Amino acid sequence: MPILSPLRITVLMGGASAERDVSLASGLRIADALAARGHKVTALDPAVGVLSSAHLDELRRSNVGTKPPGLEELAGLGNGRLLDGLTAMPEVRDADVVFLALHGGQGEDGTIQALLDMAGVRYTGSGHLASALAMDKDLSKVLFRAAGVQTADWLMAPQPGKLVEQSLGLPVVVKPSKQGSTVGLSIVRDISELDAAVAEAFRYDDEVMIERFIAGRELTVGVLGDETFPVGEIKPVKELYDYECKYTAGMAVEEFPANLSQSVTNKLREQSLRAFRALKLRGYARVDFRLDDRGECFCLEANTLPGMTRTSLIPQGAAAAGMGFEELCERIVQLAIV
Ligand SMILES: Nc1ncnc2c1ncn2[C@@H]1O[C@H](COP(=O)(O)OP(=O)(O)O)[C@@H](O)[C@H]1O
Ligand SMILES: [Mg+2]
Repeated sequence: MPILSPLRITVLMGGASAERDVSLASGLRIADALAARGHKVTALDPAVGVLSSAHLDELRRSNVGTKPPGLEELAGLGNGRLLDGLTAMPEVRDADVVFLALHGGQGEDGTIQALLDMAGVRYTGSGHLASALAMDKDLSKVLFRAAGVQTADWLMAPQPGKLVEQSLGLPVVVKPSKQGSTVGLSIVRDISELDAAVAEAFRYDDEVMIERFIAGRELTVGVLGDETFPVGEIKPVKELYDYECKYTAGMAVEEFPANLSQSVTNKLREQSLRAFRALKLRGYARVDFRLDDRGECFCLEANTLPGMTRTSLIPQGAAAAGMGFEELCERIVQLAIV
């Protein structure tokens, strides 16, 4: 890759969503990678302010915890709301590009994207409409179906247990429609557990979905521009690929490229690009699937701001394609300024 002129890049990281800690870990790696490339990088936490180098050093020494921050801790940080006047800050207004390393909440749901559009600031990844669509699993699935992307049957909660059992069968997965990191998600095997699972999910979101459980393998495909990275397989040490598995080294075995037939691989790559286009995504994203034992794949969701930590999947997918982390970050930046 040719050496490109240095840019002023502000990495937005942290925030006050349930995925705050993951975002800090992602943002730190991205900031370090872009600085190593010679860019002028500022790290900014919308829940706190500009992060000093001492603060960044402290983050460098800590790991993402095995549990998401509690609802109380997040309330203390402003409950996912972005800092007032964020786009008036010189670090944002005068940046050549804002690199969005936020995960969840207003950082991922299109709010910050719309604010940056209004301020005329360029940013990485998807625009506000696409971000909002991808964050909403219900709407995503409607669009997936319309575009020929296979996805599991689902209903929006609340629903009578009998109806759920009849139309979806058991088990089902209950999850908040607009959250990430497997927060508030549970598998219901006995219909008597449905209401409690739905109530738990409603603690995190005002919309909850009930989805047919797809037994099988967990696969993921990174998309960059209009290309896909090699398909990855995630093998969690426990049944659910939950927050702890996602962010604790050794809790999941990840295989890139996944051991799949050529036809299943092709299908997954085709379905990923189809999902990417169905939601009008831009720049990069990660599309997640379940693969059942008959070789049918079901798209779970598209992640517009996928994790970029040391153990994250997109960096592993890129590596399997021969692309290092620094180049991945650089390419994401370049896709934002074309
Ligand atoms: N319908 C389903 N069938 C089987 N497993 C599921 C299903 N939905 C979710 N899961 C499991 O839960 C994890 C998180 O679900 P996902 O829909 O991706 O939400 P999140 O936004 O929290 O990542 C998935 O990676 C998968 O392991
Ligand atoms: Mg997911």
